[in-house]
Amino acid sequence: EKGGYDHFMLKEIFEQPNAIRDTYRGRLLVNEAIVKMAGVEDNMKKFLNAERIIVVACGTSWHAGLVSEYIFEEFARIPVEVEYASEFRYRNPIITEKDVVIAISQSGETADTMAAIKLAKSKGAFVFGVCNVVGSSISRETDAGAYTHAGPEIGVASTKAFTTQITVLTLIALRLARAKGTMSSSDYRLHLQELELIPEKVEKTLLSDDHVKEISAIYKDATNFLYLGRGFNFPVALEGALKLKEISYIHAEGYPAAEMKHGPIALIDEQMPVVVIATRKGHYEKVVSNIQEIKSRKGKIIAIVTEGDVSVKELADHVIEIPASEEALSPLLTTIPLQLLSYYIAVMRECNVDQPRNLAKSVTVE
Ligand code: F6R
Repeated sequence: EKGGYDHFMLKEIFEQPNAIRDTYRGRLLVNEAIVKMAGVEDNMKKFLNAERIIVVACGTSWHAGLVSEYIFEEFARIPVEVEYASEFRYRNPIITEKDVVIAISQSGETADTMAAIKLAKSKGAFVFGVCNVVGSSISRETDAGAYTHAGPEIGVASTKAFTTQITVLTLIALRLARAKGTMSSSDYRLHLQELELIPEKVEKTLLSDDHVKEISAIYKDATNFLYLGRGFNFPVALEGALKLKEISYIHAEGYPAAEMKHGPIALIDEQMPVVVIATRKGHYEKVVSNIQEIKSRKGKIIAIVTEGDVSVKELADHVIEIPASEEALSPLLTTIPLQLLSYYIAVMRECNVDQPRNLAKSVTVE
């Protein structure tokens, strides 16, 4: 059932190329330059009249929501707020009929997300679901939705659900961008083509497996980790830190790279591994100077870079290369080595990777 892999988590990490293909199949029509999603098409008026989009979710799904904030705002110029479902539901939030609420949930059973949906509906908002489990409670409660089609995710640590959620949200953003005319047609087409190529690039990224394993062996006994990223990849830093915490029980924090100097830099010494997402275009020069700051404080740098990178290679202790892509799509690639890193560290620490202590696959209580 694990298809020759030692754990479901590893199997699911390696399933991502096909999972992403399954997510966009029949929806991403590159030759026709069309994005086709019934749930969006049927409610286009609601999306086009939306004064803002509010995303509600928990955990990893919340991180996918954060990535989508950058994508929706960049592509479709719709203001987005991303809320922890648990905070949103208890805050007497301001919601109107002009809001579109997007609820993201792998399991479709998360209690806080469900309560946030009910609250938004009671205020007249249109609620769109992005779920993986077909027929789940959230998929039934929402007004419309789009499934991720990632297939069953058994490992408690979410992996393919995350990348397929981002894929669905990117498709929606592209569809809305086309309808609103907020993206040039050449840019729009370029992103359709590049999105279609992502599964191949994920395959290529997965070839770093052995290299990530070697790095994991060096840092498996660390007691703290920092993860830094900017822009589209800031939420990936949060997600990388969450993965490490939940399966290896190492304390880890994700930060936007520029926030480092406002506090976390005080933590850096020769004991501190810092994972930095430093891909080309993503505020590259600024991230390079953040890396210099870490290096001068003797922090250990594990950098995720674009193939052919030169500057970061000179500074970092380790680099993991990913293929070049459009910046907005890069989270689908940068996330992969971070999943592998947390996986191998957890295995080397003899942790129960698929069923980490104190965690449940679906959180049906608040
Ligand atoms: C992290 C993880 C959790 C879930 C969260 C939301 O790896 O698995 O943080 O992402 O409990 O679950 P869903 O997406 O099912 O609502």
